[in-house]
Amino acid sequence: MQVAIDGPASAGKSTVAKIIAKKLGFIYIDTGAMYRACTLIAKKEHIDYGDEARILEAINQNKIEFKSEAGEQKVYVAGEDVSLAIRTPEITENVSQVSALKGVREKMVELQREMAGSTNVIMDGRDIGTTVLPDAELKIFLVASVHSRAKRRLLDYAEKGIHEDLAKIEHDIAERDYKDSHRAISPLKKADDAVEVDTTNMSIDEVVDDILAKINAKM
Ligand code: C5P
Repeated sequence: MQVAIDGPASAGKSTVAKIIAKKLGFIYIDTGAMYRACTLIAKKEHIDYGDEARILEAINQNKIEFKSEAGEQKVYVAGEDVSLAIRTPEITENVSQVSALKGVREKMVELQREMAGSTNVIMDGRDIGTTVLPDAELKIFLVASVHSRAKRRLLDYAEKGIHEDLAKIEHDIAERDYKDSHRAISPLKKADDAVEVDTTNMSIDEVVDDILAKINAKM
């Protein structure tokens, strides 16, 4: 079974997808982490975030891998654990530019489909229901107000020791949503057959239970 969870930044996609994957024994694939890893590679190699040819070359030379360690999913680039490095404000601010590059998307979509294979999978991102897994049995489009998403991101950053201003986070989230939904290739968009879930006033447990019920109904 394939479950696709798409939606704007900080809507809680990865938090709920991880919990559901663990409960059901599904593979969890965080596609945002892959575009973040591409952005980190560009940063480390001092490549302009719009230089598609050089970024692609660097991606081909620096393998991106997911590894599960003590129940936690870690992201590796060229053998180095970059799980934290891909979550900094600098990467977050520039990832939309890198993820809009045609060659980068083609490469990541190919990898994502390979990783999904034919096993039970829950994948989160922006274009999973529309492009990566168009035949997914269940497609969820997770939304929430910009303010509530910014508050969640603030807490998330605080846990990582990163201090940011709420207004700045709100501004950045709105800007990233705009870029992600207005790019030419596979923009952030609700698939026609996706179910929208608004998490603004829902707890994580409520969202998990709601999606689990939808999965069970399809099994
Ligand atoms: O999900 P997360 O916020 O980590 O995603 C980071 C960025 O990666 C998004 O803002 C978007 O630019 C890009 N992305 C994408 N397609 C996906 C997943 C993420 O373009 N399937």
